Amino acid sequence: MEDKLKQLWLTAQAEIAAASPADGETLRTKYLGRKSELNQLLGDIPKLPSAERAAVGELGNHIKAELTRRLEELVSRQAKPADDLFDPTIPGLTQRLGRLHPLTQTTDQLIELFQGLGFSVAEGPEVETEDYNFNLLNIPANHPARDAWDTFWIKPDKGAKERALLRTHTSPVQIRYMQDHRPPIRIIAPGRTFRYEAENATHSAVFYQLEGLLIDRGITVAHLKAVIDLMVKGLLGEGVKSRLRPSFFPFTEPSFEVDVWFKGHWLELMGCGMVHPTVLANGGIDANEFSGFAFGLGLDRIAMLKYGIDDIRLFLSGKLDFLEEF
Ligand code: PHE
Repeated sequence: MEDKLKQLWLTAQAEIAAASPADGETLRTKYLGRKSELNQLLGDIPKLPSAERAAVGELGNHIKAELTRRLEELVSRQAKPADDLFDPTIPGLTQRLGRLHPLTQTTDQLIELFQGLGFSVAEGPEVETEDYNFNLLNIPANHPARDAWDTFWIKPDKGAKERALLRTHTSPVQIRYMQDHRPPIRIIAPGRTFRYEAENATHSAVFYQLEGLLIDRGITVAHLKAVIDLMVKGLLGEGVKSRLRPSFFPFTEPSFEVDVWFKGHWLELMGCGMVHPTVLANGGIDANEFSGFAFGLGLDRIAMLKYGIDDIRLFLSGKLDFLEEF
């Protein structure tokens, strides 16, 4: 019975779809009339074993309702004269145009800027190993420097040799790139990063960084300072001054914090420094021959400065009224 109903449904559907409005009445009699096959099948339902009755009954009623609706639709097409179908006074539908997320815009702008300086774009995985995220960057286990990066660890598979984590910065891309390429190296690596932190207006557990790495013969802090200056001016305006302030990162020596003079204050922008010889060695590069600098910049932070956004959580909020401002 169920098969018969289904077969009937398929035939009827096809016939109605191909029919013209004038066929409406004939089809109604054929499929819904008192003597129709459907009506007979429905009439037999009470004779079914009780276990089948409910399901088959439901299917039958559903088919009947749907055929009724489709036949009405078919006939009603006839009711309207053709020229009624188009009413030129009905207002058009406005197209909602998509736009790029402010973080994407900021990233694109930086990519363009650095490509102009001969950098290319590199990428690395968001799920990293402890080696790439920490050890090879000169941050051994149990070193107090690790406290600077609160980490989301990933539950290890049975028998896993290495611990996996969500990368806490884009710096692991430095090592991955060095291992695969010989100097001169000039890359930026934008991407998503994660820290196990309480969220507030200035901290988000998911945020974005842009890493920079340049390695060649004879690279000094002067080159670093020049590139940073170009970047700050290109991004925030010609008049914006920047300064380097001594700082500490295990993977750079010396290390600096970059501040920018913005709207009457010195604001901390990013970390940077000369790539530590140990890190060069871990990347397979001879520190006696080559030197380089690296920097890591918070993209959310830059976008907040650029657009005057006061809450970092807005970026991933998915709020349309926020996104439509850019
Ligand atoms: N990885 C550092 C951080 O996330 C930033 C940094 C990158 C500092 C490269 C120096 C050089 O805090």
